[in-house]
Amino acid sequence: MSKAEALPVKRPASQAPLPPGPKGSLIMGVMREFNRDTLGFITRLRDYGDVVRSRFLYLHAYFLYNPSDIEALLTTNAKSYRKARSLRSPFFYRLVGNGLVTSEGDFWRRQRRLAQPAFHRQRISSYGDVMVQYTERAIDTWKHGERRDIARDMTRLTLEIVVKTLFNSDVSNDADHIGQILTGLVKPFASQATLKWILDNRLPTPGHRRYFNAVSEIDRIVFRIIAERRASGYDEGDLLSMLLQAQDDDGTQMTDAQLRDEVMTLFLAGHETTALALSWSWYLLATHPDAETKFHEELDEVLGGRAPNVSDLPKLTYTEMIAKESMRLYPPAYAVGREALEETEIGGFRVPKGTQLFAFQWVTHRDARYFDEPDAFKPERWTPDVAERLPKYAYFPFGGGPRQCIGNYFAMMEIVLLLATIGQRVRFELDPEHKVEVLPVLSLRPRNGIKVIIEPRI
Ligand code: HEM
Repeated sequence: MSKAEALPVKRPASQAPLPPGPKGSLIMGVMREFNRDTLGFITRLRDYGDVVRSRFLYLHAYFLYNPSDIEALLTTNAKSYRKARSLRSPFFYRLVGNGLVTSEGDFWRRQRRLAQPAFHRQRISSYGDVMVQYTERAIDTWKHGERRDIARDMTRLTLEIVVKTLFNSDVSNDADHIGQILTGLVKPFASQATLKWILDNRLPTPGHRRYFNAVSEIDRIVFRIIAERRASGYDEGDLLSMLLQAQDDDGTQMTDAQLRDEVMTLFLAGHETTALALSWSWYLLATHPDAETKFHEELDEVLGGRAPNVSDLPKLTYTEMIAKESMRLYPPAYAVGREALEETEIGGFRVPKGTQLFAFQWVTHRDARYFDEPDAFKPERWTPDVAERLPKYAYFPFGGGPRQCIGNYFAMMEIVLLLATIGQRVRFELDPEHKVEVLPVLSLRPRNGIKVIIEPRI
C-alpha cells in the first residue's frame, strides 16, 4: 500500500460541483459591482445559470433564479437553512430583537403559533373600517392642484393604520410620536444601501448613538403601553390584546420583552412594505392611462361614489390585479436570504455550510420564461387561472414556506381598500419635473419619493 493510499481521504459529503459565477476582485469579491448597480448586477448574473456563486469579501453567496430551487430554499428543504446573515446586524437586532422576522428554531415556532390567530382572515377583516376611515381622513387634508410626495403620504398612513390596529385608539398621541422616531430610525438602513450591513458595524459614531437613543425612546413608550394594557386587562380587540392573551398549550404567555420585540417587528414589517406597494401602484397607474381608466370604471361600478368596506373586496377584482402586478414589477421585498446550516445541495450544486443564499423577486418576477412582456404593466395577466400556469415560486412577493409573511392578508386587504378609497376621490398626475428612481435598500424604495399633483376625479 502506498503512502498516499494509507492517508484518510477527506471527501466533501456531497460530490456535486460548485455552481459557476464571476470571479470578482481578490479581496472585495463582487461587492463593488453589487454596490454600484444592485438591480442590474443581480439581473446580469442570471446569464451564468440558474444557480450562481459569488463572494462578498469573505462570505460566499449563491443567487437562485429558478422557481424550483427557490421552492427548495424556502419550503421543501427549509430545515437546512436559517435567515441570512444580513438580518443579524446589531443595528437591526437592537430594533426588532428576537421578533418573528429574526428569531429561529423552537422559539420562532412557538411565537409564530401564538401570533398566528391574530392574523386570521376573520380577525383581520375587522380592521377594514380603520383602514378606510384613516384614509378618508388623510384625503380630507389634500388640496386639488397641490404637489405631494405620495410615497411619504402612504408611509405615514400605513404607519398610523398599523399603530391603530396594534394598539387601538388609546395611544393615538403616541402613534404620532412613534411615527416620527421610526421615520428617523430607518434612515441608517437607507444610508447603507449595500450588503455592507452583512458586516458588523459597532463603531460608536454620533449617528449610531442617536440611533440607539431613539430605539430606547420607542422602548419606553412600548413598555408603558404593555404595562397599562396588562393592568387594565381590557380586550381592545387589537393585535396587542391578541398577543397578550395568546397562550401556549402549557398555559405560558409572552413576557413583556417578547411582546416588545414582536410589537416592534410588526411596526416595521407591517407598514413600510405595504406603503411601497401602494406608492408603486400609484406610480404605475399615473403612467398607464388605460389601466387607470379600467380602475376608475371598476370603482364607479362597484362603489358608485361611496367608501368601500371589506364586503366589497371580492368585487374589486381589477384593483386586486393592479396590486398583484405592481408587486410583480416593484416587489417591496425584492430579495429573501438564507444561510446554509449544514452542507446540502441545491439545483444539483453543492452548498457548503455557511453559504448565504438569495432569491430575488426583482429578477424572477421579470423573467421572460414565466411572464410574457415581462417589463410591461399588465394587470390583466392576473386571471384566476394564472396560478395553475405559473410555477409556484415564479411570483413570491410574500416569500413562502414556514417563514412566509404572516401579514399577507392584512397587506392585500390594506392595499386594495386604500387604492379603492383614494381612487374614488382623487387621481394623481406625476410631477413632470420629478424623476422617479428605484433605490434597493432593505426594501425597494423610490429614491426621492414619488412627487404627484393631486387632481379631482371627475
Ligand atoms: C406588501 C406588503 C408586504 C410584503 C411585500 C411583505 C413581505 C414579506 C416577506 C417576503 C417575508 C418573508 C421574509 C423571509 O422569508 O425571509 C415577510 C415576513 C414577515 N412579514 Fe411581511 N410583508 C408585507 C406586509 C406585512 C404586514 C402588513 C405585516 C404585519 C402586520 C407583516 C409582517 C411580517 C412578519 C412578522 C414576517 C416574519 C414571519 C415569520 O418569519 O414567521 N408583513 N414579509
